[in-house]
Amino acid sequence: MGNISAAVSKKRLEDDFNKIQEFTDPLLPYTRRAFSPQYYEARKWLAQKFKDAGLQIRVDPVGNLIGRLGSLDGPSLSMGSHIDTVEAGGRFDGIVGVLAALEVVRCLRETGTKLSFPLEIIDFVCEEPTIVNLSPLGSRVMSGDVTADMVKMAVTPFGDSLSDAIKKLGGNSDRIPEVRRDTGNILGYLELHIEQGPVLEKARLDLGVVTVVAAPCRAVVSLVGVADHAGATSMSDRRDALAGAAELTLAVEKIVNSPDIVQESVGTVGSLTVSPNMVNIIPGCVDMTVEVRSTVPEALIWAREEIESSLSNLALRRGLEAKIEWLQIEEPVTVPFEMQSIIAEAANEIGISVMHLPSRASHDAAKLAPIAPVGMIFIPCMEGRSHCPEEWADIDDIVTGTKALGQSLIKLDEHLSTKV
Ligand code: HGY
Ligand code: MN
Ligand code: MN
Repeated sequence: MGNISAAVSKKRLEDDFNKIQEFTDPLLPYTRRAFSPQYYEARKWLAQKFKDAGLQIRVDPVGNLIGRLGSLDGPSLSMGSHIDTVEAGGRFDGIVGVLAALEVVRCLRETGTKLSFPLEIIDFVCEEPTIVNLSPLGSRVMSGDVTADMVKMAVTPFGDSLSDAIKKLGGNSDRIPEVRRDTGNILGYLELHIEQGPVLEKARLDLGVVTVVAAPCRAVVSLVGVADHAGATSMSDRRDALAGAAELTLAVEKIVNSPDIVQESVGTVGSLTVSPNMVNIIPGCVDMTVEVRSTVPEALIWAREEIESSLSNLALRRGLEAKIEWLQIEEPVTVPFEMQSIIAEAANEIGISVMHLPSRASHDAAKLAPIAPVGMIFIPCMEGRSHCPEEWADIDDIVTGTKALGQSLIKLDEHLSTKV
């Protein structure tokens, strides 16, 4: 069986990481939000790198960048992730998976390693919730979870219609249905990613094989009270929207910490906007987001119900109008055992120790799972930190992960060719 490990170049990977990090918002560290000017620049650079590696490139109608090796039609193997980032914190999240896939392609060609099936590497558009209700956009359109109408109604935070923003990438929202992949079109999908948690680093292990991907459920909540004079309004006469929002924030924390729910569940109020937002005005309105995640479906159902009842109780008591809209309700995704064992065996063949673990973060792989067998490989990240400027993955770990990704791809190819 082929083995490209020796060809994986630390220098090429380092050069690619150093270059892509130049495409970042000048006012924020490591920020390349989907559809931002930096994102378009980075995409041009990446497309050229795909071409230089000998890939046939295209941008599909939703804006996924796809590089293909081998025949241009028919089912293919697939690897990928995303180069868009969160605000001030995406130096390795997603980028590792795309640049490692690119390096694997270079090594396949350098070593003359032939696969039985065509291979696609994909940079999925807008994986991060830059457009909260549609992300991960590219992989969800591919699996049919987001429709053309949903795309056409959306706008980006940069003031463009999503259709225009996609067009600037080379997409075409009138042809969104063509993005959809039928089951069987992607023979198997592999994604290398930083763990975004501390488990591998604590266990001092080089690699993780993902067993299940936790599901995020995301809601927008609006609380409307009465703006009034902060000095002249007695406490008993107030209908303070921000005090209500604060109570809901603590309620979310209490719910996910309650003994009635599996302890690995988490809940976050990540963003909150107050109006009028002045020191001497009682806040009249608050818009906020609520997110809960778990690998256990029942825990998610229970948490959502508890959050909704906490919200209606506090609103009644405080004389507030409250609205909650769940923009995203996802299910946890179990990684097929067949894919887990292919990755574990591949890693062992090249002498890399692995452990199996859940993914607390969500990924494009989770969105492709309904239409393809997916597998995820984790490398450690420093102190498990992610979605912050301190996010860091060591280049030697990235090299190890790239070797494991390449070996898993070759093993997957071999495994599938014995099945046809
Ligand atoms: O939010 C997530 O889990 C991913 O980083 N988009
Ligand atoms: Mn992320
Ligand atoms: Mn990611």
